[in-house]
Amino acid sequence: MNADGRTRLNQTPEWTALAKHREEFADTHLRDLFAADPGRGSGYTLQVGDLFVDYSKHLVTDETLRLLRELAAATDVFGLRDAMFRGEKINTTENRAVLHTALRAPRDAVIEVDGENVVPGVHAVLDKMAGFAERVRSGEWTGHTGKRIRNVVNVGIGGSDLGPAMAYEVLRAFTDRDLTVRFVSNVDGADLHEATRDLDPSETLFIVASKTFTTIETVTNATSARQWLLASLGDEAAVAKHFVALSTNAEKVAEFGIDTANMFEFWDWVGGRYSYDSAIGLSLMIAIGPDRFREMLDGFHLVDEHFRTAPAESNVPLLLGLLGIWYGNFHDAQSHAVLPYSHYLSKFTAYLQQLDMESNGKYVGRDGREVQWQTGPVVWGTPGTNGQHAYYQLIHQGTKLIPADFIGFAEPVAELGDELKAQHDLLMANFFAQTQALAFGKTPEEVRAEGVPEELVAHKTFRGNHPTTTILARELTPSVLGQLVALYEHKVFVQGAVWNIDSFDQWGVELGKVLAKRVEPALTEGAEVPGLDASTQALVAKYRELRGR
Ligand code: F6P
Repeated sequence: MNADGRTRLNQTPEWTALAKHREEFADTHLRDLFAADPGRGSGYTLQVGDLFVDYSKHLVTDETLRLLRELAAATDVFGLRDAMFRGEKINTTENRAVLHTALRAPRDAVIEVDGENVVPGVHAVLDKMAGFAERVRSGEWTGHTGKRIRNVVNVGIGGSDLGPAMAYEVLRAFTDRDLTVRFVSNVDGADLHEATRDLDPSETLFIVASKTFTTIETVTNATSARQWLLASLGDEAAVAKHFVALSTNAEKVAEFGIDTANMFEFWDWVGGRYSYDSAIGLSLMIAIGPDRFREMLDGFHLVDEHFRTAPAESNVPLLLGLLGIWYGNFHDAQSHAVLPYSHYLSKFTAYLQQLDMESNGKYVGRDGREVQWQTGPVVWGTPGTNGQHAYYQLIHQGTKLIPADFIGFAEPVAELGDELKAQHDLLMANFFAQTQALAFGKTPEEVRAEGVPEELVAHKTFRGNHPTTTILARELTPSVLGQLVALYEHKVFVQGAVWNIDSFDQWGVELGKVLAKRVEPALTEGAEVPGLDASTQALVAKYRELRGR
């Protein structure tokens, strides 16, 4: 038994049943599954909102899915889900509610934290953001010298960068093309330099995004940005017209010198990696406008409602979460690829890396004990078809099992001209061909039938049997983006719930931060740092030598 009264996951009958089922499954090939069930291609599909989800090319039968759902029931995934939606403090190590779903709840919804309905506050901030975004977009909000704002630079890192940066890229076709929107995150000064070198300070608005407003990278970059601005405009009063803050920490914002009237707030029940639909999305809202932003929120909400109410058999986030568990815990898969066939989704997987790996990269369970099962996978991937000419070789013929999600759209983005739109079928032909090749491969007999010399037959054979999910939507819209992100958020939730880990803390990032602070004086002043290990000491000495110190 766990301290929280649960039997350890891998000792439950549901887990044991899955392990046994896996052994029986050993020799089953997707070719056999499709041969046995002609209806599989259309039967193993689900629809949520605009997303058509095909899971037919997975190493599962009805029995597998039933056993996985039993594991979900035994671990009370839906119980924890309901507690999350109710605003209970399910982030136990930080004693916080987990309510990103409240950020996209309709105005009349009632969601309470500590007896207070948080929804009116959410909409008050959204309205304030909308008013500000409209003033910037219309030119009514001007810089210190009276010039209109033409450049927006978001300064933030992690959840205060990846979400808006990803969504800005995804929704580029919906943005005001007269605005330059950039994202600075890296404490490497090169990032800020490249983002600002061709901008006119008098036309530039900095959005300093930081939940805590203590993150060293962001505070450092924001301080440098302020110097850059003042070096040109020369008047402290300019800061008020060129800097706004997105934060939960009004005190620190004021300390930094940003008027809290220019602060857009959010709350401690919004995790950083779940926050781009909060005030953290201000840069995106300025780029696409408040109406499109609200469409995106509606997309999120649609999938929230699906996750909250759909029965287990047709609950898409539950299904995707359980499929990941099937491969990670019963097939030893170590990673999960997300492969979007849309150039606009170029930052989508990088965004999911934080969402998934910061949430579920944990070896300690909710009960404070080490888990004895695999938890979160390595999430990786870039848009097709580029990946096909880089690392797909390993997915097809390597020695590792890599389940993958393929995300594609029937329609090209509307603003492409006819000639470029004509390329879309070729893009999507690759999309469909890849999951086909991964699932069914090519047998030695098929290779021989092509007249391939015997010594090359093994090299040209594709074993296949590589599982994929296909997610297809008609077109890429703000709502569809919201739907996709919510789908992955809830998938990650499901997995954390089954593994009995707290998906909403991130203690694992703290040690590196503390050590960086400690090491810095050794680099700058050659200070003795107590407890510095021999390897790091030698590296620091080499660094100082190379810098001529
Ligand atoms: O270091 C990790 C982290 O805490 C993330 O969880 C968070 O998204 C990021 O840093 C940025 O934090 P903040 O928004 O407080 O600057």
